[in-house]
Amino acid sequence: MRQGEPVRIVVDNKLEQDTTVHWHGIRLPISMDGVPGISQLPIRPGETFVYAFTPPDAGTFWYHPHANSLQQLGRGLAGPLIVEEKEPPPVDRELVWMVMDWRLGTDGHIAAGFGNMMEAGMAGRIGNTVTINGIVPADEPVRSGERVRIRLINAALARIMALRFQGHRPVVVAIDGQPCDPHEPAGGRLLLGPAMRIDVVLDMQGDPGRRYTVTDDFYDGIDYTLTHLAYSAAPPVRPHPLDAPLGLSRNPLPEPDITTAERRELVLQGGMMGGRGMRMDGMDMGRAVWAINGMSMTGDGHAGMPPLTTLELGRSYIVRLRNDTAWWHPIHLHGHSFRVLHRNEATVPNAIWSDTVLLAPQESADIAFVADNPGDWMVHCHVTDHQTAGMMAVVRVGDDQSGRR
Ligand code: C2O
Ligand code: CU
Repeated sequence: MRQGEPVRIVVDNKLEQDTTVHWHGIRLPISMDGVPGISQLPIRPGETFVYAFTPPDAGTFWYHPHANSLQQLGRGLAGPLIVEEKEPPPVDRELVWMVMDWRLGTDGHIAAGFGNMMEAGMAGRIGNTVTINGIVPADEPVRSGERVRIRLINAALARIMALRFQGHRPVVVAIDGQPCDPHEPAGGRLLLGPAMRIDVVLDMQGDPGRRYTVTDDFYDGIDYTLTHLAYSAAPPVRPHPLDAPLGLSRNPLPEPDITTAERRELVLQGGMMGGRGMRMDGMDMGRAVWAINGMSMTGDGHAGMPPLTTLELGRSYIVRLRNDTAWWHPIHLHGHSFRVLHRNEATVPNAIWSDTVLLAPQESADIAFVADNPGDWMVHCHVTDHQTAGMMAVVRVGDDQSGRR
């Protein structure tokens, strides 16, 4: 897609079950947000639905169903969504790496057992096979001296990733589609929870003919090699790295007014081990092991979900997300991008905007945004097992309920 240009996407449901499509991270009208029962009726088998919107922001996004997510996303219904800049930055090449995680049986088929409640109360359904763009990665061919932009997308159900590029210094230029001050990540490690994206620029300064590993070492003791950067034997395309600026032009995001912002707090609760007692008065309590502020909504979104909180249209908010559990959670808010101001009260550098923020066990983060997009928006953990087992809520912006069916 191109920034600021309208698109129309016809979704033809050839599945034998309901579906919808959510355009993750795109700031669009509520009626196009793809949450069944909340922003639209589910698309029934054999039905067609037309999504039409104009992406305001250039960047790296993705799309996936918001119905029966564990199975539909877990079996591969997802894709990268690139909104091109009006003036793309000067790089030699651009790569998209949509990384997914699968649990395969010995027969090579996707293993059954989605929605295991024991797993849902822990780290979620983590698989045994990681792919890039749907295939078990072979080497990534590169040439010495070139500058490559890689759009990393974590489209896994549950796997958190921490990528390292051996012998290279990736520079982060955008997070969740939103440009940031170009910076090298802490410890050279790119941390990507499910649904998160990072755009990096890599100057290929390795030796011609050599291979360098790209590893994921997020989980202790089970690090693995994702792929290799495989240099051709050809001489460098240029003697020195490109001397062009790395920064991308900013998107037209509304700047929250921190001095007048109203505050809210969302406390993440539940799970196995170490959580404090959790009181649940939400729906479907039988399938809930997680909650936000004591309320558990399970599944993917459905009609009649009462909002956890209501925000005034056009006002700035600082929302404290407090992880009161022993597990990691990538928390996604629909319809808005937000600034991450603090983590555990410490200021976050590099002017980070996001739509999904990864919280470590017991960590808190303050996010700030202008509630400028009216509707009932989901806020949920993007570890899909956590979402469907209760770590989900609705935030209402404005009192206009026209998006509700
Ligand atoms: Cu990728 Cu409800 O979102
Ligand atoms: Cu979670």
